[in-house]
Amino acid sequence: MSGPNNEYDPVEVAPLQPEEIESATQAALTAIAAATDLEQLKQARLDHAGDRSALALANREIGALPPQARKEAGQRVGRARGEVNKALAARQSVLEAEHEARMLIEETVDLTLPTDRLPVGARHPLTTGSELIADIFVAMGWEVAEGPVIEAEWLNFDALNLGPDHPARTMQDTFWTDPSDNHVVLRTHTSPVQARTMLTREAPIYVVCPGRVFRTDEYDATHSPMFHQVEGLAIDEGISMAHLKGTLDTFAAQMFGAGITTRFRPSYFPFTEPSAEVDLTCFVCRGTGLKDNGADPCRTCKGEGWIEWGGCGIVNPRVLRACGVDPERYSGFAFGMGIDRTLMFRHGLEDLRTLFEGDIRFTTAFGSDL
Ligand code: DAH
Repeated sequence: MSGPNNEYDPVEVAPLQPEEIESATQAALTAIAAATDLEQLKQARLDHAGDRSALALANREIGALPPQARKEAGQRVGRARGEVNKALAARQSVLEAEHEARMLIEETVDLTLPTDRLPVGARHPLTTGSELIADIFVAMGWEVAEGPVIEAEWLNFDALNLGPDHPARTMQDTFWTDPSDNHVVLRTHTSPVQARTMLTREAPIYVVCPGRVFRTDEYDATHSPMFHQVEGLAIDEGISMAHLKGTLDTFAAQMFGAGITTRFRPSYFPFTEPSAEVDLTCFVCRGTGLKDNGADPCRTCKGEGWIEWGGCGIVNPRVLRACGVDPERYSGFAFGMGIDRTLMFRHGLEDLRTLFEGDIRFTTAFGSDL
């Protein structure tokens, strides 16, 4: 410890001169008053009350004074620093209040302003419709099977008992690919997925196959060269027409509501024997054949009470054999419907083309929910 300093150096303690203290204090108060934001006040604090400020320096020099001079100098410096700190605190609270008031104005959010929210899209009704159909069958324990849209002629025709000279080939106006001796077509129906499934899976088989099909049809309110079908195939021991009827009635009621059922009319398809056309209770008049007024015929079914829905039948043993299934042990049923047509019924659409033209208003109206 050094002894008391009786011989202080007047140069060293110059910062302790009353005028020096006074002018440092004034400089500090002026800078504090001049600070117009918190950032400037922070700088003023550093400059005038920080470790390197004149007043801090003066404070440190007190120890260099002779003992008798220390008290007075200490009081003077202490007062000056107290004054500066008070001014800093006062200015701080003024500036903070100003800052807060400004933020409240600048950051105000007008909750009533319209936003630029992007319109939400919707899945296409054909996608949601196909999924709904698949779900109805999956709920019954069936599986979903798929096949390619560019298909071997053999699978599209021959395997289904439509040999090269079969007159029924002309019923389906086919798009052939070049060169024609490759024997590749755009599939004209989803039935080749039946053949593919039987060739690759072991019975019992329960599959639905939704997908796109192609025919050289005109494009009008009820036809399109590209449309959608759903195929069903069940192969098991002891399958009969009764199973087919029960399955399609369930499908109809799930798709269109309770009370909607099916009726079969004898028909012909090479891949089924016996075959039937499937009609659906007219969902507009609900089978009465009459308009609401109870007198005129219903416009949708033309007074029939029924509308055409698709084809079906018991799988022809020739098809089973061609696809490696033993007709002595197994039998099966199959059906095929137009998905587009089904959705037209379901939503009361008048023109098939609305399903293909990509108008977003149509998609959002019918695709969001089914
Ligand atoms: N494939 C037929 C068509 O496109 C529809 C069809 C009829 C499918 C009877 C079937 C069926 O599976 O058994 O016209």
